[in-house]
Amino acid sequence: MPAYAVTGATGHLGRLVIEDLLDRGVPAAEIVAVARSEAKAADLARRGVQVRLADYSLPETLPAALDGVRRLLLISGDVPGRRPALHAAVIEAARAAGVERVVYTGLLRAGTSASPLAPDHRATEEILAASGVPFTVLRNGWYTENHTDQLPRYLERGEILGAAGSGRISAAPRADYAGAAAAALTGDEHDGAVYELAGQAFTLDELAATVTEVTGTKVVYRDLPAAEYAAALRRSGMDEGTAAFVASLDESIARGDLEAGAGDLARLLGRPVTPLDEVIRNARP
Ligand SMILES: NC(=O)c1ccc[n+]([C@@H]2O[C@H](COP(=O)([O-])OP(=O)(O)OC[C@H]3O[C@@H](n4cnc5c(N)ncnc54)[C@H](OP(=O)(O)O)[C@@H]3O)[C@@H](O)[C@H]2O)c1
Repeated sequence: MPAYAVTGATGHLGRLVIEDLLDRGVPAAEIVAVARSEAKAADLARRGVQVRLADYSLPETLPAALDGVRRLLLISGDVPGRRPALHAAVIEAARAAGVERVVYTGLLRAGTSASPLAPDHRATEEILAASGVPFTVLRNGWYTENHTDQLPRYLERGEILGAAGSGRISAAPRADYAGAAAAALTGDEHDGAVYELAGQAFTLDELAATVTEVTGTKVVYRDLPAAEYAAALRRSGMDEGTAAFVASLDESIARGDLEAGAGDLARLLGRPVTPLDEVIRNARP
């Protein structure tokens, strides 16, 4: 009988959660990787993880994927705006399959945040609460990788562009959020809990200073009005809609939407959250 199912299993976070479950000694045969592509999940199948194909947008694929599952990690989908309806289908399938607890990866301070990302996550939390299925919400903060993935560009330009002002970002690497998700999935004391998961807080000025310190290459932060930042993103090849969205995320950072204490994440991990300089050191090109 499969103990745990992880959706988005072929994504960055899902893979790390499965890795963490295996590291904790959960037998591979007790883990279901819910994936859209058999080919993408082939490595997981080779390791003995049960791969089941399903798509949030094809409700008929969900019952077989969740059959016999005790606890489900629902990793949020990646299409803003469409997510509540897609997540609702998964939650309904979990209820029908008798899943004992759904653990959902949401957004930091989703209840009150003015982030453009918040409405989808707030709506999903409401759907969960109304579903009658026991649940745990992991309100994930910013991934440090949102910045470290751009390290080569920062080093090449000698600057970080943004519109976040002196807003603080309490980020943690995906692996830390994955560790927390594995802990919430395997632990027995998380029914009804809503965790605010965040890491070390930094401004983009402090990010630039830490990049400089770790790499030895001088990088500064250049703060722009949101419209100018969006224009710079467009000039670098981003389409207009995405550029506007990314700039609006920086405005949300400037308002403080991504700042929170690291207590919940450290408690779930049983260790301190990975500090910014260590994530940058590990990501150095
Ligand atoms: N906290 C942050 O800074 C941050 C940043 C970016 C995203 N996020 C959120 O966190 C989630 C996980 O992050 P990530 O880095 O693992 O993202 P990712 O690598 O893009 O993975 C997303 C996963 O969701 C799966 N998925 C998307 N739509 C689906 C659908 N309709 N049915 C079934 N599976 C579907 C994808 O399947 P495929 O593998 O088949 O594509 C993929 O495995 C994202 O989806 C997004 O909601 C958070």
